Amino acid sequence: MGKDIIIRIGGEGGEGVISAGDMLAQASARAGLEVLTFKTFPAEIKGGYAMYQFRVSAEEILSHGDTFNIFVAFNAEAYEVNKGFLKPGTVLVYDGPDSDVDPKPVEGVVQYAVPITRISKVDLSSPISKNMVALGAVVQLFSFPMDSLVELVRNKFKKKGEDVVNVNLKALEAGAEYVRSNIKKTDNFYVQPKKPEGDAIMLSGNEAIGLGALVAGCQFFSCYPITPATEIAIWLAKHLPKTNGVVVQAEDEIASLGHVIGASYAGAKAMTGTSGPGLDLMIELLGFASMAELPLVIADVQRGGPSTGLPTKSEQSDLFLAARGGHGDFPRIVLAAATIEDCFYLTVDAFNLSEKYQIPVIILSDGSLAFRTEKIKRPDLSKINIINREVYSGNGDFRRYEITDSGISPVSLPGQASGQYIATGLEHSESAAPKYSAEYHTLMTEKRFRKIENIEDEYTASEYDGSGNEDIGIISWGLTQCSVREAVKRCREKGLRVSALYPRMVFPVPVKAIRKFASTVKKVLMPEVNYQGQFAELVKAHAGIDPVRYDIYGGLPFTPEQIEAKIKEVI
Ligand code: COA
Repeated sequence: MGKDIIIRIGGEGGEGVISAGDMLAQASARAGLEVLTFKTFPAEIKGGYAMYQFRVSAEEILSHGDTFNIFVAFNAEAYEVNKGFLKPGTVLVYDGPDSDVDPKPVEGVVQYAVPITRISKVDLSSPISKNMVALGAVVQLFSFPMDSLVELVRNKFKKKGEDVVNVNLKALEAGAEYVRSNIKKTDNFYVQPKKPEGDAIMLSGNEAIGLGALVAGCQFFSCYPITPATEIAIWLAKHLPKTNGVVVQAEDEIASLGHVIGASYAGAKAMTGTSGPGLDLMIELLGFASMAELPLVIADVQRGGPSTGLPTKSEQSDLFLAARGGHGDFPRIVLAAATIEDCFYLTVDAFNLSEKYQIPVIILSDGSLAFRTEKIKRPDLSKINIINREVYSGNGDFRRYEITDSGISPVSLPGQASGQYIATGLEHSESAAPKYSAEYHTLMTEKRFRKIENIEDEYTASEYDGSGNEDIGIISWGLTQCSVREAVKRCREKGLRVSALYPRMVFPVPVKAIRKFASTVKKVLMPEVNYQGQFAELVKAHAGIDPVRYDIYGGLPFTPEQIEAKIKEVI
């Protein structure tokens, strides 16, 4: 096996591309290898081009990579979309020869034709099993562990009945048998199992957010389903009841945040999950939560916008909304996840920060990260610190919004003796009575913002990777950080002097870290997947740095190759 292999499967939505890819990725993880997946598919349930890419390696994987080493084309459209990436050294496995896929020979590209449609349709009378025939062929060609695949096929289809399991097992074997009998392997790609190191689990970004919420002590989750965030709710609906937690499907996003605010008022750690259009709707209540100083977490899984936009694609374009959305002046914290581990740990952080500061915290993920699956080290729960809101312990003269030096005032729980107060969206006095005087609005506004005045000293908001004197420094956020990490590694191997800052808190802008970082480099480069350079604009406004911007907005994440080329151009 080479250092790592990237396999891409392309076909039509509804043809089972995703199932086939998931199974290969899981089999690789079970074989002790590192795995990272990347999927894009259309917004339709059936039809359109669906793609599943996974990278498998004996070593740590930083990003989804550039293009593929092996491409499996289920149909002519998938071939057409990807033929430009078939470079010498790559392998094409396609539905043929008796199909509409008609690849042109390319020098240095190994091509294997496997009649996946014919075998499934004619030989097995099960057209839906086309993906399993392809899977069998791929398993045989590149030495994936067949035993593992057989088990995964059984597990995947058992809820559909024994007949479905059996025909798919037959299809898997038929694909493998076709290769054994008809194809002479001429490429050098083999998957070689490795002794597993440590205890690992495989999760998607959305599942990791759900797990993070569970570990942080979330007791209530309400949402309105929306692509690409729905799997957070699906995961929590399965697991939250095990800890006596509750999941509610609300009638819309406004109601869901209303539920969460109510649950938080009642003392529960509460969360909602949504995507851009849902966050739009929640903004008025976001201001309410900040005014009432109620802890809560919103996971915003960004998709391409504006409006309905690109539901199944990803973009980093909700930052302005998360950081600045709403009328009036109110504080909130925005964290941004870059990896599956981040989705888990930053969700725990989001709950901790919201409880500590009694403030809404938004965690930004995106469509690519939501659907990505990755093998990660099993979190050691004994090392995770959980913070709970400070609860009032006096027995008289409770002032819910007491002016304190830190800005944080203890909260009471409903029913608590002497703890009565009313939480509303109105400006208020220390004892929560409506009060609109200039004096109180000034005092309370300052109190609310004072809570997070020193957050950069109290929370590790970013990670620095550099030696203190480089030609170029890259500041990135969210998923873009993965491709930046790989590009930085490649550039350093080529002798370029590059450093990087990886903020995990994007609002308030970690000004101290950014200014210090900028002082160590000749130029700052900021790549982002949005048109307006949203983080670059915030950095410019808050830290006074004028970075070189690199914005893409095609609904796909950066590849390391793109970042590497830009670094070289800027240097
Ligand atoms: N035998 C039997 N069933 C099979 C099969 C086989 N060999 N291979 C796949 N299937 C089933 C899968 O189990 C799945 O069924 P399920 O939904 O009951 O689990 C279904 O066929 C689809 O297969 P899957 O591999 O999951 O996906 P796909 O590659 O065919 O692509 C999607 C389909 C994912 C593109 C599409 O279903 C989808 O979800 N589109 C996005 C919709 C969306 O979110 N729109 C936005 C709205 S705003």
